[in-house]
Amino acid sequence: MAPPLPLIFFLLMIHGVTSADKGWGGWGLSYSPSHICALKDSTVIMRCTYTYPTGHQIKKVFWTKTLVKYHGEFPDLSNDPEYSQRLQYLGDKQQNCTVRLSHVTLKDSHMYYFRFITDKPDGKWTGKSGVTLTVTGDFDLQVESPERVTEGDSVSLTCKSSCALTDRATFIWYRNSQPLTERRDRNNELLLQSVRREDSGRYSCAVDGHTHVSPDVQLNVTYPPKNVSVSISPSGVIVEGDSVTLNCISDSNPPAEISWFKGGTIVGSGRIFNISKISSDDSGEYKCKSINEHKEKYSDAVTLNVMCELMITSTLVKNLKFIIF
Ligand SMILES: *[C@@H]1O[C@H](CO)[C@@H](O)[C@H](O)[C@H]1NC(C)=O
Ligand SMILES: *[C@@H]1O[C@H](CO)[C@@H](O)[C@H](O)[C@H]1NC(C)=O
Repeated sequence: MAPPLPLIFFLLMIHGVTSADKGWGGWGLSYSPSHICALKDSTVIMRCTYTYPTGHQIKKVFWTKTLVKYHGEFPDLSNDPEYSQRLQYLGDKQQNCTVRLSHVTLKDSHMYYFRFITDKPDGKWTGKSGVTLTVTGDFDLQVESPERVTEGDSVSLTCKSSCALTDRATFIWYRNSQPLTERRDRNNELLLQSVRREDSGRYSCAVDGHTHVSPDVQLNVTYPPKNVSVSISPSGVIVEGDSVTLNCISDSNPPAEISWFKGGTIVGSGRIFNISKISSDDSGEYKCKSINEHKEKYSDAVTLNVMCELMITSTLVKNLKFIIF
């Protein structure tokens, strides 16, 4: 039976750092990396090399997780029933002290140390800097993103984990729960160059091969007012005494503040401009101004032509005459 993929090998490292314990006279030991972050149930390889003075012969090598002696020696992990089945020494008795620990559990999060003993009376050495193993139940992913960006900016979203993940991990990005097929990512970053309004949305990320998806983070793309125009209702002939509504239509983010102009004079504010009981004095050119933090923009002017009753009546009378005579 083949084990599921993540169990085979999923070694994730925090810093690519090596820690070394160097002594004089040729004694030394180094762990690389010195911090390992792994997903629960995965297999971890702790790489390690050691040196000692020539003339010594290695008698015993082992890993331990405590620097407290018990019966005069550090306890050998391979004798620990919690580890014995899962621990495999891959190193040798010359210079390689690499060890493999499989099916890691949250409880395995610990410091681990390698110790070797030679045939000489003073031939004992422990790499006290140790390897720090952190096992997480899940990647605990978080999207880091600026909350708002301006259209045209370049923005990068980062998928962060409690474990810093290596290049090995492939990230999947989602916008509004839909996977992003355009691959614009670099390691754990999603690059949005020259961001567009359509890029607004809820973003989340996941690591390929794992079901856990980060919580959503909202990206808000702001832009100046566009397509500013005025609509008049009712449309058609406007007669004195009518109630007329002018509506300023404007697309912007954040929403714009609207003001109204008749000729060059400001006459109102708000998206809707109401004139109840319109009179012929209200005739003229109207336009609205839409402004947000980015820019202001004017609509084209619209002309209100208010007919007075008299004009209508005279037209009517003229027509009537026409009909009668
Ligand atoms: C030590 O042994 C491991 C496992 O066999 C191997 O992957 C690694 O390359 C070795 N390291 C050195 C420095 O030889
Ligand atoms: C204005 O609106 C039209 C249709 O609603 C749209 O096709 C066009 O792209 C918009 N123009 C701008 C500059 O947003």
